[in-house]
Amino acid sequence: MKKIFLLLTSFVSIFAQEMRWNWAEIDPTQVSFAKDFLWGVAVSEYQISGARHCAASNWAAWEERNKVPRAGAACNHWDSLEETITCIKQLGVKAFRFSVEWSLIEPEKGTFDLTALGRYRDFCRRLKEEGVVPMVTLHHFTHPQWFEELGGFEKLANIRHFVRFSEIVFDALQDYVPFWCTINEPGVYVLQGYIRGVYPPGENNTPFFAPKADRVLYNLCRAHVAVYNALKKRPGGSESQIGIVHNILQFDTYHKNNWLEKMVCRYFNTLMNDAVLGFFDKGVFKKATRLPFDSSKWIYPEAVGTLDFIGLNYYSHVVWNYQQPQGESYREGDIRTDMQYALYPEGLYRAIDTVSVLNVPIYITENGAPDKHDVIREQWTQRYTYAMHKALEDGYDVRGFFYWSLMDNYEWNEGYEMKFGLFEVDFANPLCPKKLRDGARYYVDLVKKTYQ
Ligand code: BGC
Repeated sequence: MKKIFLLLTSFVSIFAQEMRWNWAEIDPTQVSFAKDFLWGVAVSEYQISGARHCAASNWAAWEERNKVPRAGAACNHWDSLEETITCIKQLGVKAFRFSVEWSLIEPEKGTFDLTALGRYRDFCRRLKEEGVVPMVTLHHFTHPQWFEELGGFEKLANIRHFVRFSEIVFDALQDYVPFWCTINEPGVYVLQGYIRGVYPPGENNTPFFAPKADRVLYNLCRAHVAVYNALKKRPGGSESQIGIVHNILQFDTYHKNNWLEKMVCRYFNTLMNDAVLGFFDKGVFKKATRLPFDSSKWIYPEAVGTLDFIGLNYYSHVVWNYQQPQGESYREGDIRTDMQYALYPEGLYRAIDTVSVLNVPIYITENGAPDKHDVIREQWTQRYTYAMHKALEDGYDVRGFFYWSLMDNYEWNEGYEMKFGLFEVDFANPLCPKKLRDGARYYVDLVKKTYQ
């Protein structure tokens, strides 16, 4: 009976409509936000400090071994913390999301660099003095190479190392940091590292036949639970807000009734979106790799109740076309970005609705335009913040929005080609001077309008 029901629901969803609004009739600037809405900007340490400063990380080792763009010193953030604060202040935002790089704190297993930890502490203190709320991410794709060599998150037994690192960082920073994100985008980590092979450990696995991708994703979710429980027991733990950051990437079929597209989208929607949500919502992890009538799941009831908030990263959807399986992801008339995806603000509304099943406050922890020529940034910001505003009006509990990114930075396997920054960075100059882009002004004005 259950199987028949499942079959029916997947059949019905074939005809589900992809949400589209008529932008010709919308003025996206007609929005206003409550004064306690948390506007912020986001970065991750490796992306702004690079291999020069994070030399003991698995990504630095990955750069050595592979033909990927070199990060170098990135934006030189580690050596210019005050300048970063100046940029944040210039925007008027009230929050800053950044990651604490594990390889800087524990470059060798069991050896903790207290100077580096102290630097993070000073940085958090300075942010607080300037009226900027820090939101710390404990794992943003990178970790120490020694952890990678132990098998990283492939092995459940390794989670204890991540817990120990998290506790040390938490104890050092918690009196300045109210928001903690355990893991950034477990789904993306697994897609890039275990299916596409473009992030470490660089494994290419065929979708549908990638049980390891499921296993690592499951372990990442369990790592969140372990860290959540451990931090809640520390001084300051019960007052801290601890969540995970989940990227929603909807896979929509290009053609309306194509079974192949339907199957591919179903696979990726499970892996990228639903498995993590089911895990935290019901304690039930749905595997993406399974035989047609195999509904077996991993059950982990301890997961329920381990989120104080959900961090939602959203950029766009994938429109999967069987005629161009590796190709661009656009529909006719779409506004293009520099990545292979289009501007799709309706997707943010859909994503907010999707994560709202968790019944916890939602923070948009990343959203921003890859836009080298600064031609769509303003429109992107207007439309996505409009979509978020609409969700607020419809009763969704969205509490904050962090623009990705404060400044141009190292976009992983894409190197420096992708420009996400509100600030443009002159990478040719070792001091990396930063200049506010024209396309950033709408965001600055919106923030100003909210807090004035
Ligand atoms: C990641 C960032 C990345 C951004 C833009 C997110 O998936 O968390 O590290 O730079 O997307 O592609």
